Amino acid sequence: MALATLKFDALVIGGGGAGLRASLQLAQSGLKVAVLSKVFPTRSHTVAAQGGIAAALGNVADDKWIWHMYDTIKGSDYLGDQDAIEFMCKNAAAAIYELEHFGMPFDRLDSGKIFQRPFGGMTQNFGESAISRTCAVADRTGHAMLHTLYQRNVQSNTQFFVEWLALDLLKDKYGDVLGVIALEIETGEIHCIRAKATMLATGGAGRIFQASTNAFINTGDGLGMAARAGIPLQDMEFWQFHPTGVLNAGVLITEGVRGEGGYLVNSEGERFMERYAPHAKDLASRDVISRSIATEIKAGRGVGKNKDAVYLKLDHLGEALINSKLPGIREIAKTFANVDPVKDPIPIVPTAHYMMGGIPTNLQGQVVVPDNNSGQKVVNGLYAVGECACVSVHGANRLGSNSLLDLVVFGRAAGDKMVEEVRKDSAQKPLPADAADVTLARLNRIDTQTQGETVKDVGAALRKTMQTHCGVFRFPELLKEGVVEIDQVAERAKNTIIKDKSQVFNTARVDALELDNLVEVALATMHAAEARTESRGAHAREDFSERDDVNWLKHSLYYRENHRLEYKGVRLKPQTVDSFEPKARIY
Ligand code: FUM
Repeated sequence: MALATLKFDALVIGGGGAGLRASLQLAQSGLKVAVLSKVFPTRSHTVAAQGGIAAALGNVADDKWIWHMYDTIKGSDYLGDQDAIEFMCKNAAAAIYELEHFGMPFDRLDSGKIFQRPFGGMTQNFGESAISRTCAVADRTGHAMLHTLYQRNVQSNTQFFVEWLALDLLKDKYGDVLGVIALEIETGEIHCIRAKATMLATGGAGRIFQASTNAFINTGDGLGMAARAGIPLQDMEFWQFHPTGVLNAGVLITEGVRGEGGYLVNSEGERFMERYAPHAKDLASRDVISRSIATEIKAGRGVGKNKDAVYLKLDHLGEALINSKLPGIREIAKTFANVDPVKDPIPIVPTAHYMMGGIPTNLQGQVVVPDNNSGQKVVNGLYAVGECACVSVHGANRLGSNSLLDLVVFGRAAGDKMVEEVRKDSAQKPLPADAADVTLARLNRIDTQTQGETVKDVGAALRKTMQTHCGVFRFPELLKEGVVEIDQVAERAKNTIIKDKSQVFNTARVDALELDNLVEVALATMHAAEARTESRGAHAREDFSERDDVNWLKHSLYYRENHRLEYKGVRLKPQTVDSFEPKARIY
């Protein structure tokens, strides 16, 4: 079938912070660049990032990038690749000043310098004491960043395809990536978009869980596309549960609240984090705090009607500070928890927030896969950045405010590499005649199937399975059953039906296509989690409660075919400094 074809030098799938930082680099270099986004770019999930972006600017107290590097490695429970972490932390300050010069309206200190607040796990002098390292625009930092980057892209003539959904990668017989096949949601038309360099910047997949801080759009589209193209997904067992999601709503309450002096209390009014992390207390890393909250609830010290939450208290900060530094939080608490935090505590619970794993890349954002001859090879023409990628700077647990940093540092680096590669090889490679066939057959199945379950029902089963079997604490039997259940859900997803085609045909199609992607992410997560018999970072097993560096200081690689798992070593050698050797992780 002949499809309408569009041609670009570079194509970026996803209009969030990572995609827009990369596309800006490409557009400013004079290349013809397209950004394809299933929502209006400034509605991408980066807009929901609240608390800030980390960089060792030293505006509040003396700071060094190597302290930030140490904190990030420790936070990752030593699974992060130290060369990538060094690169990110070293380039952080330049990334912030660049954003400032782009017009991002950072909050200011009295000195006029960029405001910085404390965030969990961020310390001075290799863990000595907490430090203010997180630059912020009140509690709407992602919003400010996304609008800044979008405006710069408009100015630089980036071409936007808004409300287009990328379905699959287009490849040739060598496995080189030549663009994507995409659905124009408004018209229902299918297009080939050809590009000499294609980037996946599709964000996270937190919608595999029932309770999630993620937007409904976070369905792992890039990961689904990569998995279907035979690319492994790395470290998918590591999911961050943010300690403070609003009870029964999932909406994020920024860690910035605790950075500004808020704290957690149980039903007895006790500041229980003093017991679990005597030094860092409410600013320990997220995995530690989420487990502490879950333990308090399990011990019967939860609050609320069902005793299934704890309180986040900030009334002592005063109305003026809350209004100036946490205005969005006040609004969220009133809307979703029916409390005004100026007077009352907010009931919160750990909530799925961030995927540490993703599509494996090198420091330039090129997708890399194992190779029998050379150990590792680049997938020509394919790049990935942001939450859908695994470079890996977050390892087994990300520190708050390192994700916005990851987006801009690696977005820019990947954009630069794409410019270099496109300039080297200016011809579009020929597209095989059957390149889109499998995707068209998938779409045809979705459009015509008459017997089966609804996407809504299968999606609900998927989320229930993940929530029940793969949560903050992981239990051997639950994981085993979870593997069986998620495999069954994946089979059910192959036979979904669209009931009312006349009313909402294209959006229903999008739901079905997104479910395919959620299935790939959920399968990878459950299989990798069941296989990793240790506890590390956010992966906390009841039966293997200790970290096991002898057997498990390695990245997992999940392949869709037969749910195969392979492993590869962690890059413990930084670029220019000595390695930080794994040691006990105490906060
Ligand atoms: O708590 C927050 O503001 C979230 C930040 C992050 O995930 O980096």
